[in-house]
Amino acid sequence: MRRFAILFCLVFTMACSTFAQIQFDAARKVWLITTPHSSYAMGVGPSGELQHLYWGGPLWRIEDVPAAQQRQDISSFDPHQMIENEEYPGWGGPRYYETALKITRADGDRDLVLHYADQHVEGDELEITLKDIHDDIQVTLHYRVYPETGIISRSSTIRNGTQQKITVNSAQSATWYMPRVGGYRLSYLSGRWAAESLLNLEPIQEGMKVLESRTGHTGHNLNPWFAIDPGNAAEEHGRVWFGALAWSGNWRITVEQTPYQQVRVTGGFNTFDFAYVLKPGESLETPAFYGGYSDHGFGEASRLLDRLELADIEPHGLKARPRPVLYNSWEATEFNVSEAGQKTLADKASKLGVEMFVVDDGWFGKRNNDHAGLGDWVVNPQKFPNGLNGLIQYVNGLGMDFGLWVEPEMVNPDSDLYRAHPDWVMNFPGRPRSELRNQLVLNFARDDVKDYIFQVLDKLATDYNIRYFKWDMNRTFAEPGWPEVAPDEQPELWVKYVRNLYDIMARLRAKHPKLEIESCSGGGGRVDLGILRYVDEFWTSDNTEAFDRLRIQEGFSQAYAPKLMSAWVTDVPNMNGRSTPLEFRFLVAMQGALGIGANLNKWTEEDAQLATKMIALYKRIRETVQFGNLYRLLSPRTNDTTANEYVSQDGKEAVLFAFRHSQEYSTLPPVIYFEGLNAHAVYRLESIDGKILNKESEVSGAYLMQSGLQLALKGDFDSTAVLLHRIQ
Ligand code: GLA
Repeated sequence: MRRFAILFCLVFTMACSTFAQIQFDAARKVWLITTPHSSYAMGVGPSGELQHLYWGGPLWRIEDVPAAQQRQDISSFDPHQMIENEEYPGWGGPRYYETALKITRADGDRDLVLHYADQHVEGDELEITLKDIHDDIQVTLHYRVYPETGIISRSSTIRNGTQQKITVNSAQSATWYMPRVGGYRLSYLSGRWAAESLLNLEPIQEGMKVLESRTGHTGHNLNPWFAIDPGNAAEEHGRVWFGALAWSGNWRITVEQTPYQQVRVTGGFNTFDFAYVLKPGESLETPAFYGGYSDHGFGEASRLLDRLELADIEPHGLKARPRPVLYNSWEATEFNVSEAGQKTLADKASKLGVEMFVVDDGWFGKRNNDHAGLGDWVVNPQKFPNGLNGLIQYVNGLGMDFGLWVEPEMVNPDSDLYRAHPDWVMNFPGRPRSELRNQLVLNFARDDVKDYIFQVLDKLATDYNIRYFKWDMNRTFAEPGWPEVAPDEQPELWVKYVRNLYDIMARLRAKHPKLEIESCSGGGGRVDLGILRYVDEFWTSDNTEAFDRLRIQEGFSQAYAPKLMSAWVTDVPNMNGRSTPLEFRFLVAMQGALGIGANLNKWTEEDAQLATKMIALYKRIRETVQFGNLYRLLSPRTNDTTANEYVSQDGKEAVLFAFRHSQEYSTLPPVIYFEGLNAHAVYRLESIDGKILNKESEVSGAYLMQSGLQLALKGDFDSTAVLLHRIQ
């Protein structure tokens, strides 16, 4: 009966989109996790180690999956342990690949061999307990499967059941294995400040590639996401395995090809400067590492992750309201904020249709530039003689919510907080304290610091009608000393800092249920699925220049949903000296959560009219953009035109955005083939500006997907949008 149900669901995927099954064959000790998208299997080998058996498209028959085997040693240099795909290997015995767990006992013994001990299935969750062959050191592997996407979240809890303390030297969340095929290619996101999340593709060859952060936060340089394909996947076809690590501190993902054709991906806490002491009875939990499989290319891989993020990770899930159109004055005024100046901008913003007005840096303490004031979260009375309430009531009176910038993790040495508590910053006594942007990092690992900061933010959220915090974090860690704890426990700062950061956000949200948070770290320095449990959106990049944004947003969209991607329209020239038309800037930003960051005092009447029109248009399509399915049709990396299409969840609406970068030799832009439409349906096309060469305004899905649309984009930085409404 159960088997029939699985088969039925695999054949009629739509009928069972929330179906998941965790089967356990107790006689052969094999597990098979199945959803309509994918299956994942493990088994216990003859000597007791847990082996990975399968990850890929959906299977329905557990008997098909061969039980775990013990392999033969190839030579005295190639032991069988290296050839088997151990699911969560400890460092012990002859294991030289990247292991998932490495420990040191108090007596110096460092050998750890993990064997199967127990299992427990409940609903969509499976727990497998492994135990060292000699000591009571246990690891519980947690698997949670998300039926709608087939994505599995994996993490581990390491427990010291011995009578002596142990030091954990490496604690990984999971190891994933690709089938032994070869020719694999790795996709990952890299960059730097103002150029985050740029997509790279490269062949996987023997050896190890390390993606990581050592900076204390997620980082601008690499993002904890990967995708692997057999070298032939494209946007809408081919097999793609993908994963994302939910951690906002030092993280590490290694992609390793062994001499035995294994491609292994291991991720968790960065092993760099890592040490975590477990006294008898204590345990350590690793972050969740999400993994999924798509057999419809990178596009579906992204859509599955988007779905998971919106439905299962972000705080309000699918009940979240659409992101409002916001205005932020940072690029207009920088530190020069005042009640009168902000009110003028608020008037102008509200006339355009803005829904949330955000005051950025500069409102507090002696914050007239970036040399002073961080840490002193009290309203500057010169700039705001009536406190913040004068402005907030005004903004609310205009029908807008109010948002406020904070950077709670930092102090300027020139601040009352630092003068009162110089010991609160991370430091090695007697050593220099490296300043970056004239600031130092508070040691959030300390519970007294955590409690103080919670109380400061709680007071702001209680005293004022604040709907939203833009939570910034503008430097990397240095000298991560924690002199108040025992020397061997000091490196725990890396982990405890992040846990306390999450804790503050969780407590704030629990106490102020309407409060929303944006995760910002000098742009996109803290974009990951760990922080997403506590925030509503990410600040994508400080680079708001529209053409650069096309690539930044393309990379971002591989791993993160459009709804989570804050995107502003700002003034030109910006950042790199380039000037693009206002419409181009709007359409780029309208592909995520739209915001305006321009100096509205400099806008002409014509600019304001165009902005009003574009904001009204955005409000019509934002349900589709923010909650729909994204199809990347033309990439800015490989074409002179970028095109992205969003299809609403119910399939009734779609919107196409297209951008011509630079026309050469009077050519037309490439024909745009739609994706994800119903071939048998008819759609009414609504062009925002008549830049479609096809004359018919009612066309079938089949025609749009097979013959495509020819747009008339010309010159430099031309752009358009086309709305599709299903009429039959
Ligand atoms: C960071 C943010 C910006 C702005 C400034 C303020 O750079 O990314 O958006 O808030 O800080 O100092």
